[in-house]
Amino acid sequence: MATKAKLKKESEETISIKPREQKKPMLMEIAWEVCNQVGGIYTVIRSKVPSMVEEWGENYCLVGPYFPNTAMIEFEPIADLDESPFGKTVKKMQEMGFDAHYGRWLVTGKPKIVLLDFKALLKNTNDYKFKLWERHQISTLNAEPLVDQVIALGEMIRVFLTEFGETYGYKNDIVAHFHEWMAATALIDIRTDNVPISTVFTTHATMLGRYIAGNEADFYEKLSGYDWDIEAKNYGIEAQAKIERLAAQKSHVLTTVSDVTAKECEVFFGRTCDLILPNGLNVTRFAATHEFQNLHMKYKEKIHQFVMGHFFQSYSWDLDNTLYFFTSGRYEFRNKGYDLTLEALKRLNFKLVQAGIDTTVVMFIITKNPVHSIDPEVLQSRAVMEEIRQTCESIEKQIGEHLFHASASNDDPNLPDLNEFVDEYWRLRLRRTIQTWKTKKLPHTVTHLLKQPDDITDYLKETNLLNHEQDRVKFVYHPDFISPTNPLFGMEYSQFVRGCHLGVFPSYYEPWGYTPLECVVRGIPTVTSDLSGFGDFIMQLMKDYDNVGVYVVNRKTKNFDKAADQLAEILYKFVTMNRRDRIMQRNRVENISEIFDWTNLRSYYDTAHDLALKRKGVTRM
Ligand code: G6P
Repeated sequence: MATKAKLKKESEETISIKPREQKKPMLMEIAWEVCNQVGGIYTVIRSKVPSMVEEWGENYCLVGPYFPNTAMIEFEPIADLDESPFGKTVKKMQEMGFDAHYGRWLVTGKPKIVLLDFKALLKNTNDYKFKLWERHQISTLNAEPLVDQVIALGEMIRVFLTEFGETYGYKNDIVAHFHEWMAATALIDIRTDNVPISTVFTTHATMLGRYIAGNEADFYEKLSGYDWDIEAKNYGIEAQAKIERLAAQKSHVLTTVSDVTAKECEVFFGRTCDLILPNGLNVTRFAATHEFQNLHMKYKEKIHQFVMGHFFQSYSWDLDNTLYFFTSGRYEFRNKGYDLTLEALKRLNFKLVQAGIDTTVVMFIITKNPVHSIDPEVLQSRAVMEEIRQTCESIEKQIGEHLFHASASNDDPNLPDLNEFVDEYWRLRLRRTIQTWKTKKLPHTVTHLLKQPDDITDYLKETNLLNHEQDRVKFVYHPDFISPTNPLFGMEYSQFVRGCHLGVFPSYYEPWGYTPLECVVRGIPTVTSDLSGFGDFIMQLMKDYDNVGVYVVNRKTKNFDKAADQLAEILYKFVTMNRRDRIMQRNRVENISEIFDWTNLRSYYDTAHDLALKRKGVTRM
C-alpha cells in the first residue's frame, strides 16, 4: 500500500512540474596554453577557435592563466562586464577577492576568454597541496615549481566553474573541456564534489610516455608491461603523472590525439580512451592554385641568399640544382628522430657521392638549445656577401648609365665593351671585397655558439659530416627557432617551410606532430613515421600516401638500422626526382590539405562534447 502511495505522489509531482526551459549548452575550453604559448597545444587551441566560434557562438569561452606580458599583446579586456554568465561569474569572483580577467582573445575568431591570475594564491600552495594529498592521495613532495603554479591555477578554475554553475544554473548543460594535466586539478575536484558539469579531458601526450620514450630503447615493445606508479617514481614525476591519471579516470569523456597515444593512455591511466580527436589547422588555400608554387619559388630565393652567404665563402655550387631539406621541433634528440635523420643523411651522402649525382642537399636542423649568440664568423660572412652585392649593384648602375649615354650618342649598333664602363675604384673595391671574403676554412655546420656541444654536433663531428666540398649533403644546424627578426634568414618559419623542398620528421615519440602537417598545408612534401599520430592517421586515411608526398618511415616494425636505410632510400628517390615531378608532387600534397582543416576536424570535438553531455550525472570512481 505504501509503495503505491509513494508512486502516486511521485507521478503527481511529475505532472505538476512544468518542463524546464533548457538553455543552449555552454562550452568552456580550459588549458594552460590558452593565451600562453609554450608548445603545440597553443596551436591546437588557437587554430581551432574560428570553427569553434562558428559552432558555439557566444556560448563558447576559453579559460587560462593570466600572465601580464602575454595578456598585454593577446588580450583585450571587456571593461564593463557584460550580462553573460561568463561576465557575471568573473564579477562574482572579483567580489570574492580573486584576480580574474574577462575579455576577448585577440586571435582570429576573437573568442571570449577568462584569464585567472593565480599569483596571489601561490602563498597558499601548501594548503592546496595538503588537500590534494588528503582528498586524492596525490603527493607533491619535491615536485617542480610548475606544479605549484598548476595547483594554484587549478584552485581558481575550480572556484570559477563552481560559481559559473551557480550563475548559469546547474540544470542547464555545461561542458568543461580540459586540456593536459596542467589544467586538470580542477577537473578532479569538481568531479569529486559532484558538480554537475559535463567534463572532457584531452591529453596531448602522456607525461610518462614522453619521459620513458626519451630515455629507454624499446619503449613500444615494453609499453604494456610498464607499471605507471614505479615509473612515475623513477622519473620523479609522481605529482604530474597522478594528476593526469586521475583526471583521465574521473572525466566523463577521455580523449587523446591519436591511436598511438591512446595505447599509452590505456597503460598509464588504466582507462580506454573514448574518442580520438585529431589535430587540424586553419588551412588557407589560394584562389589561384599556382600561387603556393610561386611562393615556394619566392622563399626558396631567400634561402638561396642565406646559403650563398654561408657556404660560398668557402666554395660554391649550382643553386639551381640544390634541394633544401629541413627538420624542426623541440630539442628531443631521440623522440623527434633527429638521430635517425642524421644517420639516414649520412647514408644518403654516401649514396649520392657513390652514384656521382651532382645535386646538392642542404639540410637545415631548426630547434632550440642554449646558445651564447650567433657565431660572429657566420654573421661576418653574411655581411661581407651583402657588401659584394651592393658593390655589384653600384657597378650595374654605372654600366647602365654609361651604356645608355654611349648608345644614345653613338651610331654604331653593336654593343660596346662593357668593361670600359666600370671605373678603377669599383673594380678594385669588388676585387678586394671578394678576396677578403674567400676562405679555405670549411663552412660552419652550426650557426650559433652553443653553450655546450650536444648530440647533433657530436654526431656531425664523429661522422666527419663537416661540410666538405665533396659532400653532397651539407648541414646547417640552427639551434634557435626562425623568426623575421633573426638576421640570418629574416623570414617567418612558415615562409621558410614554403621555400624548402622536403620536411623530415621521422619521430620516435610524437603523439600527433604538427610539423609534417605544416608542410602539407603549404604544399611541401614531408616525411613522418608510423609512430607519430599524424603518420598513423594518414596511413589509416589513404593507401597511396607516399605518392601524394607524405612518406612514412615504418619505425613500428623496423629497428633503427633498417629504418635509417628506409629513410635514406626515400631521400635518395626524392633527390633523383626531376623538377617537373617535384612540382606535380607539391600539387598533390597541397590537394589533401583540406582534410586537415578544422572545419572538417571539428566534428570530432562535437562528438566528444555530445557524449559528455549524454554522460552528465554518470559518476566515475
Ligand atoms: C615553383 C614554380 C616553378 C619552379 C619551381 C621550382 O613551382 O612555380 O616554376 O620551377 O617552383 O621547383 P623546385 O622544386 O626546383 O624548387
